[in-house]
Amino acid sequence: EKGTYEHFMLKEIDEQPLVMRKILEAYENEDNRLALAPEVLSATTGCDRIYIIACGTSYHAGLVGKQLMEKLAGVPVEVHVASEFSYNTPLLSNKPLFIFISQSGETADSRSVLVKIKEMGYPALTLTNVPGSTLSREADYTLHLHAGPEIAVASTKAYTAQIAVLAILAETTAKAKGALNDFDLVQELAITANAMEVLTSQKEALEELAHAFFETTGNAFFIGRSADYFVCLEGALKLKEISYIQAEGFAGGELKHGTIALIEDGTPVVALDTQAAVHGAIRGNVQEVAARGANVLTLSMQGLEQDDDSFVLPHVHELLTPLVSVVPMQLLAYYAALHRGCDVDKPRNLAKSVTVE
Ligand code: F6R
Repeated sequence: EKGTYEHFMLKEIDEQPLVMRKILEAYENEDNRLALAPEVLSATTGCDRIYIIACGTSYHAGLVGKQLMEKLAGVPVEVHVASEFSYNTPLLSNKPLFIFISQSGETADSRSVLVKIKEMGYPALTLTNVPGSTLSREADYTLHLHAGPEIAVASTKAYTAQIAVLAILAETTAKAKGALNDFDLVQELAITANAMEVLTSQKEALEELAHAFFETTGNAFFIGRSADYFVCLEGALKLKEISYIQAEGFAGGELKHGTIALIEDGTPVVALDTQAAVHGAIRGNVQEVAARGANVLTLSMQGLEQDDDSFVLPHVHELLTPLVSVVPMQLLAYYAALHRGCDVDKPRNLAKSVTVE
């Protein structure tokens, strides 16, 4: 099944442009407009707040989903780590809608929240790559991710599929509310798929960067602001789970509140700059860490790039940048793990589907 690939992870990274196109095909109607079942849209337009519940990478996709849902559809969203929700249940709004995001649809931590909120009588929508899975069967509605089987333990194409489906949910919700009529998500996602393809064709450059930055290091930092912060959390998780490099993703603004103490000569810092509104601020952070000796790998979006940036991402809509900025993060993690001789597809201590709490 791996074909010519040495690892499923690399194959699955490469499949991402195709997955974007499959998602568009699956959610487009005859008029080439994005469409969802009316009952799903009544749930999103009829609720007063959405609670997204997920774990790990799926939680990181949820953070991006919150921004999409709030900015495009104007629906307030909270995102919760499933295992925390059970004992730190927030005060709920009057008409909550719960959205469970789970590649496998079998994650026990998420399921335990689903059981609890169903007992409370609240509606649930599951986004999963496995229709018919437990989380799909026990929820009221399901949206399929259409990513195809994900075999590598480290999730890649499911993350981007989750974000794309969340974008579709946000766009169709907005349009059902009579808003956002000049936004063409079909076109924006098509542009994004092309951008992902450009990135997957630049593996050699990313392999060299992975070699230069992560070959011998024991730790690494990922900094970004706004949507870039969420992708930094995911970039750090990818790196740590497969290369065993201790990695931390955090908001650029938090540097001076503690983490900058850890920066010394040669510390690798991956900086992400795709958001025009925080461009100046993140560049300020880059200078702060560089001045303390950090080895900075800057990934910037076309239009925001500067002369000595390590890598420039093709331009896509500002709300969809996580779909492209995560690709070099995935590839950096992959090559870092490969060079360090790690078992890329089956990292130690981890299971593909976590069915115990
Ligand atoms: C990381 C990873 C995990 C999963 C998490 C949730 O690469 O794969 O963090 O995202 O265990 O799994 P699902 O999405 O199946 O609920």
